[in-house]
Amino acid sequence: GVKIATIGGGSSYTPELMEGFIKRYNELPISEIWLVDIEAGKEKLEIVGAMAQRMWDASPYDVQVHLTLDRKEALKDADFVTTQFRVGLLDARVKDERIPAYYGMLGQETNGAGGMFKAFRTVPVILDIVEDMKRLCPNAWLVNFANPSGMVTEAVVRYGKWDKVIGLCNVPVMATMLEPGLIGKKTEDLIYKFAGLNHFHWHKVADNHGNDVTMTLIDKMYQEDNGLPQNIYDTPFERELLEQMKMIPCAYHRYYYQEEEMLEHALEEYRTVGTRAQQVKRTEHELFELYKDENLDHKPEQLQQRGGAYYSDAACETIASIYANKETQIVVSTKNNGALPDLPADCVVEVTAYVGAQGARNVAFGELPTAERGWLQVMKAMELLTIEAAVTGNYGTALQAFTLNPLITSGKTAKRVMDELFIAHKAYLPNF
Ligand code: NAD
Ligand code: G6P
Ligand code: MN
Repeated sequence: GVKIATIGGGSSYTPELMEGFIKRYNELPISEIWLVDIEAGKEKLEIVGAMAQRMWDASPYDVQVHLTLDRKEALKDADFVTTQFRVGLLDARVKDERIPAYYGMLGQETNGAGGMFKAFRTVPVILDIVEDMKRLCPNAWLVNFANPSGMVTEAVVRYGKWDKVIGLCNVPVMATMLEPGLIGKKTEDLIYKFAGLNHFHWHKVADNHGNDVTMTLIDKMYQEDNGLPQNIYDTPFERELLEQMKMIPCAYHRYYYQEEEMLEHALEEYRTVGTRAQQVKRTEHELFELYKDENLDHKPEQLQQRGGAYYSDAACETIASIYANKETQIVVSTKNNGALPDLPADCVVEVTAYVGAQGARNVAFGELPTAERGWLQVMKAMELLTIEAAVTGNYGTALQAFTLNPLITSGKTAKRVMDELFIAHKAYLPNF
């Protein structure tokens, strides 16, 4: 049978992952699942681990869920390694959100200064995991969910020299699940093509006669609930911008196209209900209270309150597609290989791909229009410098990345924010 190792197993998303595996058991015959965490996550691991075992026990399948704080034990001979860890826990996220905001800049888990520091903390850990994998499970696939998912995947390929990796995000899943209903269609009636970077992509949609329906969808989105992830405030994009673009920007593009509105809203939230991390702490507490219930053996509805809803549709489908060579269409972070000619062939992009035993085979998107090409090239340069800084610990490289980031100002304030974040996260930045 298949051995799965999940790093950050104490995550409240684990039941979502189990549900996805149970659903796909017939094509992906799992025999053991190893949930790995660290000392700080031990209690969560035990609670959610017991819940995960109950989910399997309630299913027709005989699967053992093992809990461990020893990553090496879990990685040994694994077939698939999934990563859903948060370096520094939610307290680090509060700092990523608060500190830039004190200086009038957006604080967010994957965008702006906060997203960059999350990369600084996460890249060294993922590279350690890759080194372990080289020795303990050299044939395994790494399926990454840890954020910033695109940068983490890029680090694995570029610095870990590990190509058997796929980065995932639930945002494209939500778009393809929820948008078709707006025009009375089902997902399989439409042809989707995504292009860009993680949390920075656009997509085009056609019907099954090949006619572009992107603008029809955009019209509907202004009239109805468009199914954004729970963590993103819904301020409408400027209509003229979308008419010129003729593509659908991802939900996270609001931070860039509507920076002022998003910042205003974030600051208001921070003053009242707290930052997203503070809100998530409350949701998580409720979830773990539920998970403690020994009669609960299925994923509770409340998990949909988290921004990562439908995560397992991406993760478990990716694993099943590789294992059974299904060639399913999935939006993944993977090596460009020419799909986006505006970016180097060897960098990681987020695009529509066919996923099978060989990994992802990208659907070519072609060149992007002037505005999107400009954004994309700036953002990729920012990502590459962020990762390089995370690996080398070079202050100048970090400052270059900071200066390039469209959500960060330049000059003395930017430097002050960066320095403050370095102090706040010192314990998790071994390379700086
Ligand atoms: P969480 O705070 O519950 O963390 C998950 C677990 O990781 C915790 O139990 C923690 O103890 C553990 N952990 C921390 N450092 C570790 C390490 N070095 N090794 C092993 N385990 C470690 O986080 P969460 O809210 O479940 O999110 C997990 C990750 O997934 C985060 O990075 C988050 O940003 C990401 N995420 C990604 C998407 C996506 O679309 N790709 C969506 C939602 C969340
Ligand atoms: C989704 C994203 C994730 C993001 C998460 C936050 O929008 O795809 O990458 O980080 O939700 O969710 P949370 O509930 O933790 O705020
Ligand atoms: Mn995401």
